[in-house]
Amino acid sequence: MTKLVSLTIDGIAVEVPEGTLVVDAARKAGVDIPVFCYHPKMEPVGMCRMCLVEIGRPVIDRQSGQMVLNEDGSPQISFSPKLETACTTPVSQGMVVIGLSEKAKAGREDILEFLLTSHPLDCPICDKGGECPLQNLTMGFGPGQSRYLYEDKKHLAKNVPLGDLIVLDRERCIQCARCVRFQEIIAEDPVIGFYQRGRSLEIVTQSEPGFDSYWSGNTTDICPVGALTTVDFRFGARPWELSSAASICNHCPVGCNLTFNIRREAASGGRWVVKRVMPRQNEMVNEIWICDKGRFGYHFADRTAPRLTQPLVRKSGELQPATWEEALEVVAARFASSKGNLVTLAGGRLANEDLFNLQKLTQELNGDTALYTHMGGGEWTTRLGFPPGTDFGHMGTESAILVVGCDLEEAAPLWWLRVKQAAQRGVTLIVLNSRPTKLERRATYVLRYPFAGATAAVMAFANQLFDLRLEVPSSLTELTKSPEFQQAVTAFQKAKNAVVLYGCDGMGLLETEALGQACANLLIQSGHTHRPNNGLLAVWPRANDQGAWEMGWRPKADLQSALQGAEVLYIAAADPAGDAPQYQALFGGQKFVVVQELYLTQTARLADVVLPAQSWTEREGTYTSGERRVQRFYPAVPVESVSPRRAESPGTSRSPLLTTDIERLEGPLADYLIPALIARRLGNGNALEEEAAGVFRMLANQVAAFAGLSYQKLAEVVEQWPIVSRQDLYYGGTSYENAQGLGVTLPLPDLNTTAALAWPQSADLVLPKLGMMAFPIDRLYDRGRTLLPSSLLDGRIGEAFIIINGQDAARLKVNEGEIVRVSFLDGDVGVVAQARLDAQLPERVVLIPRSFGMPILAPTAVEVKPA
Ligand code: SF4
Ligand code: SF4
Ligand code: FES
Repeated sequence: MTKLVSLTIDGIAVEVPEGTLVVDAARKAGVDIPVFCYHPKMEPVGMCRMCLVEIGRPVIDRQSGQMVLNEDGSPQISFSPKLETACTTPVSQGMVVIGLSEKAKAGREDILEFLLTSHPLDCPICDKGGECPLQNLTMGFGPGQSRYLYEDKKHLAKNVPLGDLIVLDRERCIQCARCVRFQEIIAEDPVIGFYQRGRSLEIVTQSEPGFDSYWSGNTTDICPVGALTTVDFRFGARPWELSSAASICNHCPVGCNLTFNIRREAASGGRWVVKRVMPRQNEMVNEIWICDKGRFGYHFADRTAPRLTQPLVRKSGELQPATWEEALEVVAARFASSKGNLVTLAGGRLANEDLFNLQKLTQELNGDTALYTHMGGGEWTTRLGFPPGTDFGHMGTESAILVVGCDLEEAAPLWWLRVKQAAQRGVTLIVLNSRPTKLERRATYVLRYPFAGATAAVMAFANQLFDLRLEVPSSLTELTKSPEFQQAVTAFQKAKNAVVLYGCDGMGLLETEALGQACANLLIQSGHTHRPNNGLLAVWPRANDQGAWEMGWRPKADLQSALQGAEVLYIAAADPAGDAPQYQALFGGQKFVVVQELYLTQTARLADVVLPAQSWTEREGTYTSGERRVQRFYPAVPVESVSPRRAESPGTSRSPLLTTDIERLEGPLADYLIPALIARRLGNGNALEEEAAGVFRMLANQVAAFAGLSYQKLAEVVEQWPIVSRQDLYYGGTSYENAQGLGVTLPLPDLNTTAALAWPQSADLVLPKLGMMAFPIDRLYDRGRTLLPSSLLDGRIGEAFIIINGQDAARLKVNEGEIVRVSFLDGDVGVVAQARLDAQLPERVVLIPRSFGMPILAPTAVEVKPA
């Protein structure tokens, strides 16, 4: 048990764990000691001296080792003659800290006077103005005037791009090194650093392209002045003009908590717009960080993106604008006559409420549902996923984390960050993959299996653990005979707690179904389920895939046949025709196709009716993260319609409709509302709820996993550490305090072990006779519909590319960066892409990123030729 230490700070008695720094102990006691360089998420460096305090310690008698007492029995306290930095000094028993003494105040005043000797005082135009610790501390403790000469100010360059996303104002930097330390310690991308010394010291980028990191935006949050700003927000607004709305990132399954800063502005035609995306604290999910995809990748929801604004109905062969009344009438009439011959295909980008209503409507019509995904295994994460109480932040030396078939930073950046931090705290991290990933830098054991060997590798792991004698291919012999493999198995076996994360690196639906099952069995067999910090985590491609599985949505092993066989298709948040051209032929002819979407996708272009959907910034709802945490997001901006009927205020979604309202509907509608209106048109008006909270109530009543949940419960908060709020002197960054909900983790059903322990088949990789084998990989920045509209990421996303081995490249006479033609032998589709070379790849293996316009959903035979 951690030893507790008692001390007083500005007269307040506190008790904190041994090792706590004075600055943190003060914060816990409600005393705000000012800081610049100290950040509660990083080790102290004591560079700025802003946190100066007077510290007294009990006098100890050398002979007896006892405290020397005053006449009144109180301990005699000896104060250090010099002020001390509260951020580098750990507490000790009986310590007396005085932060508000004249001496401490004078120290702070000197530091501020010194910092301001060469500060440009850009406050009227600085982006940090209004939320700037330097401003706040100068107001609180600064001198009225300076003894230094104005002419001595050092003038440095302003507006220096550190890359595509971050701009540096060199004059404003106070040299606290928070940004540099964040990149080194937390992001582990040391791509910026100090250059020169003294007043000439500058932050420079050492990478090409500049500031090449998925985490760069966080440095602008923790920079205590306006030295670092984002291209997105720079000169965009003043903080006091902004309203805020709580949300959840919908780019990946982590479910980072966000705050949208919004305002109504003339430059946008008087509309409410999102001006910036900031992290919102949730220590169990994203702490106070977000990745740059979450921060900068929201523009797909903007009005400026080519959003659908009104329904379209095909007439005389053309999609033509129609009213909601007309479109719903056409859809309802055809759905009514579908006689069960209907398939609803939905993507995991949709919220729980949307998926619930789509599922209910489909059931009413005796149709079939299909989840649009290239990753399987959710039947296992719903049964032995993360239980309540599980938190990467609380895993330590007693835990093991096994990561299989996943490039975690590319697929789910915050999980990469939390898993590698767990490894730094002593968790045994075993990374099992077919190729190197960034996570390996922190791994205790790195194990490599041949491409297509993920499931077999997990089965070999189980063989070694339990002597199961499962059949695994001979290509794994090199792995299984390695001492590292055996040590990793032993470490996993010894771990009190263990979690397994699996992804879809190099795999499609079938391969990941098998992998999920193998990982689940490994956990069941080793007894690592149904206890906090034990269980299975799927690194899903979409934000709410886990929610879809929890509600019973399942993918179709043969989607093409399922779609082919249906007379009526209802497709929401999915673009099969855009992802794989072989699907395009499915949508013509007699089939009746309804597409519910944000944009006119390839599939929407082939539809009979297109229904415009609201983006997640315009409505409310919930997502279930991969960790099974259900979290609320709230409306941030009002819905834009073709001709806005009413000026809605931010923070409100379209209110529940009256029966007569259908004739008056305009603009995009929430994905949960559209199926409810179709149900109403079908004459079943009471079947589905038409506002989000009502849908969630029904969901909680009918879906066992969600039983007992409510919007109120999801909105509950508890105090978190560190305490963040932007007015504090103890400055944690501009991240937002979470007052809107930490979410709730779904309970797990009881484990029926008899249903498990059937092991999948594992087979050796068979390379095609002709050409090469392509494996899909994840890239955080892809060319998908929800990222491309964020044009400021263009430079990072780049053009379509493939990765091939150097020997294959030599055989094909292709050099690094040259354009090649890739033919997909199963669909005979040819695309061009840039060739990148990787000496570590095996011959005849090609890596192709998903969502780059190349039809790769699973391992596929390809032919590569110079273009
Ligand atoms: Fe500190 Fe900001 Fe300068 Fe970085 S740029 S050293 S965070 S003041
Ligand atoms: Fe969004 Fe995932 Fe990045 Fe978090 S880690 S901000 S959820 S993309
Ligand atoms: Fe303590 Fe900088 S020295 S905050």
